[in-house]
Amino acid sequence: MRILKISSALCALSLCSLTVQADVWQGKALEEQSCSKCHDHSVYTRPDRRINSLAALTQQVSRCKKPAGAEWDKDETADVVEYLNKEFYRFK
Ligand code: HEC
Repeated sequence: MRILKISSALCALSLCSLTVQADVWQGKALEEQSCSKCHDHSVYTRPDRRINSLAALTQQVSRCKKPAGAEWDKDETADVVEYLNKEFYRFK
């Protein structure tokens, strides 16, 4: 329930699209926790970014997971992929 309250608060700040799905929300939390050691969000938006499909994104997240020390299961990894896709990549 707490998460729902936070979501409503963020909706008021028009970050609603991020909070519609709990998965994306969870993915964001996981990514922020583990993935800022080597690069920030700018690698996801740089003009020459390398990832050009959802499959490639999934692979890259799996690849980066290890050095990040993130012990995510399949669902958690999928949440992070979903978050990165919704927020930055926007593959269909
Ligand atoms: C040990 C260092 C390291 C950590 C920790 C790390 N990454 Fe990376 N990541 C890299 C490097 C190096 C690249 C490639 C940068 C380049 O090609 O210039 C990269 C690239 C990426 C890209 C591709 C960017 C593009 O070009 O489109 C994604 C997506 C990504 N990382 C996701 C993650 C996620 C999610 C995590 C957390 C699990 C994470 N990374 C943690 C080193 C790291």
